[in-house]
Amino acid sequence: MVAVTGVSATTTVGARAPIALADLHGSLADPVLDSMTFLNEIAGRFPDAVSFAAGRPYEEFFEVEAVHRYLRRYCDHLRDEHGMGERQVNRVLLQYGRTKGIVHDLVATNLSVDEGMDVDPEAVVVTVGAQEGMFLVVRALRTDPRDVLLAVSPNYVGIRGAASLVDMTTLPVRDGSWGIDLADLARVVRSARAAGQRPRALYLVPDFANPAGASLDTDTRVAVLRAAAEHDLLIIEDNPYGLFHAGGERPATLKAMDDECRVVYLGSFAKTGMPGARVGYVVADQPVAGPGGTGLLADELSKIKSMVTVNTSPLAQAVIAGKLLEHDCSLVRANEREAQAYRRNLRHVLDGLAARFGQGAGVSWNTPGGGFFVVVTVPFVVDDALLERSARDFGVLWTPMHHFYADGGGRHQLRLSVSLLQPPQIEQGLDRLAALISEVRPV
Ligand SMILES: Cc1ncc(COP(=O)(O)O)c(C=O)c1O
Repeated sequence: MVAVTGVSATTTVGARAPIALADLHGSLADPVLDSMTFLNEIAGRFPDAVSFAAGRPYEEFFEVEAVHRYLRRYCDHLRDEHGMGERQVNRVLLQYGRTKGIVHDLVATNLSVDEGMDVDPEAVVVTVGAQEGMFLVVRALRTDPRDVLLAVSPNYVGIRGAASLVDMTTLPVRDGSWGIDLADLARVVRSARAAGQRPRALYLVPDFANPAGASLDTDTRVAVLRAAAEHDLLIIEDNPYGLFHAGGERPATLKAMDDECRVVYLGSFAKTGMPGARVGYVVADQPVAGPGGTGLLADELSKIKSMVTVNTSPLAQAVIAGKLLEHDCSLVRANEREAQAYRRNLRHVLDGLAARFGQGAGVSWNTPGGGFFVVVTVPFVVDDALLERSARDFGVLWTPMHHFYADGGGRHQLRLSVSLLQPPQIEQGLDRLAALISEVRPV
């Protein structure tokens, strides 16, 4: 900075009053946008703590060499199946790419192989993670302040954050004992409409939800589709964990059961492909009528994407495509070892909780049928200060459930993520959690 002579000793060129937070977009004051930062920050400050906090995929099978193999595999596919020469292969991988993505056909094949879904590749938009997909969908749906999003609560902070970025109010719908309380859905729709609001869509994670771990059975899925038709809502189905069930039959996705184009499906390759690739997708086969004729919602989302990320990195898409091709487009096959590790860890955590907090301890937990998350209920308030104390004094991290509620719920609950740890760390982490609980529990 340069002092300006003849004005005042303290006046400097270039000095500027701080920008008032109130002069920035309102979402920046929304606590939901601070949640991820806070949780990452605390994990960063206590790197030696055993972490049940991050819902990150298992790292033991990570292998950089696989990236090279997948790239080679996709290039061979372009040459052998699409008859491309070297120049074209180079262009596909290294040039700017198609806005809706270059691996849409393989995504559609994967959904057919693993989920029995019949998807038009043109209805697929390949995104920078499911998170971008959420943003595209809420941006498209929010036309004026009356438009609101319904979200089964507790819910993933990413959906509330995306809605907040586009000034869209999120109304919570209780999850109840079946993963969604349909009576509460009807009540929320009724009262929103009575207040002049327009419920546009219902967001939910029907398989091993983040954070509650709950899954909808087939009857509930049928009832959700019926309720969406009755209330004239779109459904945003987010399914990052569906492959990781603890055994038995997997119920069909809502999208596979959707014969009215009511479901917008969000897919993520973060847990099934490779989180570092940052690739996800949206299936949006809803017809959209406009002055130029009728197209697909996917094409409208693509227009938004062209102004947000232009296109998803073709290199990252190629890596995911190579992994798909290596496993005949089945992520079930590609993730056999991972699914086994998650099943083992889930069993380990549930057995470990039972061993430490048997009868009468005032501590309870749910028993998810798969996925990454277990919710523990305790007889005291669970807040960010307790998390900090847990990390500092007991060396164990977890996530306070209140972060997943917009309306002050979850004050006596914490989420344990089982995905990242090995059994000895799980044992150590649960011992530390037990020590914290016995210290804080009222006598
Ligand atoms: C329910 C849910 N949806 C979406 C995401 C984010 O997916 P992506 O990493 O593909 O953006 C997560 C990540 O934890 C999640 O739990």
